[in-house]
Amino acid sequence: MPIEWDPEARQFHLGNGLMSYVMRVLENGWLGHLHFGAPLAAGRSYAHLGGRAFHGFSNRVGEPVPLELPTAGSGDFRVPALVVEQADGSIVLDLRYASHAIRPGKPDLPGLPSTYAEGDAEAETLEIVLVDDPTSLRVTLRYTLFRDRPVIARSATISNAGAAAVRIRTAMSVSLDLADADWHLVTLSGTWARERHVEEGRLLPGRRSVGSLRGASGLEHNPALVLRRPRATEEDGEAIGLSLVYSGNFLAEAEVEPRGTTRVRLGLHPDGFAWTLEPAATFTVPEAVLAWSDAGLGGLSDASHGLYRERLARGAWRDRPRPILLNSWEGVYYAFDAARLVDMARAAADLGIELFVLDDGWFGRRDDDASSLGDWVVDERKLPGGLGPLARDVEALGLRFGLWIEPEMVSPRSRLFEAHPDWAIGIPGRQRTESRNQYVLDLSRPEVVDHLDDALTRVLESAPISYVKWDMNRNITEPYGGALPAARQGEFFHRYMLGTYELWRRLTERFPEILFESCASGGGRFDPGLLAFAPQTWTSDDTDAIERLKIQWGTSLVYPLSSMSAHVSAVPNHQVGRITPLATRAAVAFFGVFGYELDPRTLDEADRAAVRDQVAFYVAHRDVFQRGRFVRLRSPFEGDGNETAWLVVSDDRRRAVLGHYRMLERPVPRFDRVRLRGLDPAAIYRVRPWPASLGSGQAARGGDELMTVGLAIEPADPLTGFGRADFSARLFDLEAT
Ligand code: DGJ
Repeated sequence: MPIEWDPEARQFHLGNGLMSYVMRVLENGWLGHLHFGAPLAAGRSYAHLGGRAFHGFSNRVGEPVPLELPTAGSGDFRVPALVVEQADGSIVLDLRYASHAIRPGKPDLPGLPSTYAEGDAEAETLEIVLVDDPTSLRVTLRYTLFRDRPVIARSATISNAGAAAVRIRTAMSVSLDLADADWHLVTLSGTWARERHVEEGRLLPGRRSVGSLRGASGLEHNPALVLRRPRATEEDGEAIGLSLVYSGNFLAEAEVEPRGTTRVRLGLHPDGFAWTLEPAATFTVPEAVLAWSDAGLGGLSDASHGLYRERLARGAWRDRPRPILLNSWEGVYYAFDAARLVDMARAAADLGIELFVLDDGWFGRRDDDASSLGDWVVDERKLPGGLGPLARDVEALGLRFGLWIEPEMVSPRSRLFEAHPDWAIGIPGRQRTESRNQYVLDLSRPEVVDHLDDALTRVLESAPISYVKWDMNRNITEPYGGALPAARQGEFFHRYMLGTYELWRRLTERFPEILFESCASGGGRFDPGLLAFAPQTWTSDDTDAIERLKIQWGTSLVYPLSSMSAHVSAVPNHQVGRITPLATRAAVAFFGVFGYELDPRTLDEADRAAVRDQVAFYVAHRDVFQRGRFVRLRSPFEGDGNETAWLVVSDDRRRAVLGHYRMLERPVPRFDRVRLRGLDPAAIYRVRPWPASLGSGQAARGGDELMTVGLAIEPADPLTGFGRADFSARLFDLEAT
């Protein structure tokens, strides 16, 4: 059994040979944490691992032992995982073991997204009930161990079995105590158009945290943390990953205390949070996923890629090949009518593109971003007869039709706002802050969710729509739930997320054949929470190939390529003004869910031929790009960042594509070899450069040689001029013979 309970030692050991998680019920009934990390042998006591002194005290345990669910005020002065304000205003809890159960499979969390098991054999779940006798507060800690993955999914439900209401002030999804501080903390941080850059530093005494108080996980920080040993690399060494299956306010934090132990916690951001729990009520915290690897950051990414692609994403599109799309946004923005769109779609069809997506601007009177959000009725000035005729024209060209929506928003200039000004989030008597000329709808109100469900269902039923891009372009200010009493305003942000998830659930269940893509000003809600509903996300509004190297590299630390939308756009690039070769733009966007975001009617014949070749290449390698193993080889965040290299390898290791990118060209380039990983050492690979015009023919190389000696990246070719330009990319197509 992967989850072992030893009644003598009062020890739980969750171990699957890939990693171990060990806890023990202490003498006084508290639940102590003994170990998370390397796999340990089953059937042994690990009680001695708990005796890890930290700078604190308690007269209720013989020696300080890290707790699974640390609370406040009883001698452990580090950041707590659970703070509950009781009827008398006090916050101390004495949570003692009451019972446990071990069940096959994995339960869903009410109203919240989560990872899942397909069938009971894939996972086992341990539920441990802790009780605080004075208040009768019960906490059910839930740990799911996946049989074949080095990950544990954690969540908890807090139940008030007492007679008086209590207020939850802090409820983290995970608190993890580590015996030392010899770690580097890695976060994925940035802002609009440069999301999820890798930021890294040694842990130091005190706290380091990232988080969001914006009502969305945000562009600034991702709800994920990585800890890696200072010497760990992409392929070797110990690393721990934590990520939160949630899309709203979060806190991710590491604290090093004076004796050098580390506590990491991740969950709902406690700032501004307060949840009243009446007698008999329950509250479930979002799920956190913990992963461990001794194969470095690459091993950690393998674990989260597999889990998130196969057991977080769900629905018909989880395993289907994702279509190559043309999105109208950067091509025409708001300036279109049906004829122009059909012309674009015709040009796209001629290039082999499979899906045409109509972005913002099709509803109300939306000629710019100043109006109409909330009025989900087609603008017949632009699209006479509605979406149906346009979608059918597009389908007649051999493409599928997709549509952009931004459900959670309302423009002050809209019919919806005129009719329901109170549905926009704001505090009565105070001015609302506008951002991008819009307000956020109060999705904590069930009637708002019902209205959006009806309005969007009408839209999605009005035409053959195969794909939906669900955007969200501003964050929440003046947080206030119009239907919540004063004492419950601390629940607002989380209730907003619950309402949003409810809307996602209804629409994705009602339209199971639609491929949903999430978006929030680019990657402002690129998180595991929304991946449970939409298997792909618009990675960033920045479509510049060079900027994308960092964005896609950072994103790949946690998220699989099948979740990352990546488009080729026009030059000069609209975000940074850079001019990069068309082949480079494609060579970067291939490593994701591929598409275009330009006006194909403006391409000349040479570019059209190049795009046809790109589309054909992606189609031929789509399964490798979307389902293969992504291997990071050379980081744009290291050294002078001038070069990046990465690789994607099919599961059977018979096929692979290597991408090598050089930002600035230099005179007298050094001789360069890239050492590959993840290939079959015994196989002989046929190595062909792509596009064929840029290469010097094909070669046969052994997998062992490619992984030990490496593949030579030839210097500038005097005939083709390749390598003499800035922003060059070289792709190599590998196939075992
Ligand atoms: C922000 C998105 O990230 C863009 O791709 C585009 O859809 C615009 N919103 C439309 O307003």
